[in-house]
Amino acid sequence: MSFRYYYADKIREKVPHYKGTDEELQDAIDDVSLLYNSAIKEVEVKLQILSDDFDKKHSYMPIHHIQSRLKTIESIMEKAERYGIEDPINNLDVVRREILDIAGIRVVCNYEEDLQTMSGLLLAQEDIELIKIKDYTNNPKESGYRSLHLVVSVPVYLVNRKKMVPVELQFRSIAMDAWASLEHELRYKNKGELSQDIVDTLKECAETLHKVDERLSKVRHQVLHDENKYSNY
Ligand code: GTP
Ligand code: MG
Repeated sequence: MSFRYYYADKIREKVPHYKGTDEELQDAIDDVSLLYNSAIKEVEVKLQILSDDFDKKHSYMPIHHIQSRLKTIESIMEKAERYGIEDPINNLDVVRREILDIAGIRVVCNYEEDLQTMSGLLLAQEDIELIKIKDYTNNPKESGYRSLHLVVSVPVYLVNRKKMVPVELQFRSIAMDAWASLEHELRYKNKGELSQDIVDTLKECAETLHKVDERLSKVRHQVLHDENKYSNY
């Protein structure tokens, strides 16, 4: 049994309602992963170039690190069902229209103000189209979560066609990312159930970290001012 077939067999266990053959199922899945992986690569390169040019011009790299992930087919199907898409595996077009976070990139920046700088530079590019924006930096979620979420679509050029592919970007400061990672881990460990007491404490931690972000930003401006670099920005 070839690897291709073995893989499709495994996938079929998760999506028993697929109407085509194993090969067609494999092709459909390969199509999705090629497109979305390519879109991730394109946006990552754009961000890397921006960061390098920023470094050249200002001797400063706003991006601390970038993480990316492609949603698994199981997770795409699970979300599609949650969104009420009927028979998602046989309606991948609808799934691709509705689920906008199949490709995800997390851009962790040093300071809070870098979020606007980097997202603004990306959005100013003419082949990037903004689909959706959720600004949880000024309006944190009930949990205390802060981050700037964008969904953009980017052109992917294949042999005989061009496809616009959506990518979800989460821009966070290091402090926002530290909180979100730990909160996610704690929630995951407790299967999503956290006592009110813990929820309240985590929210307080998020607020404290927000104040830290603001103070660090002030310190940075002070240092830039002292070094006379301020006018460069
Ligand atoms: P999803 O179905 O989860 O994608 O929800 P949505 O489409 O309404 O998106 P939302 O703006 O809530 O952002 C979803 C993503 O943001 C999640 O997958 C997480 O990565 C992150 N996120 C949102 N809220 C929280 C939170 O309270 N804690 C943590 N740790 N992450 C969060
Ligand atoms: Mg999501």
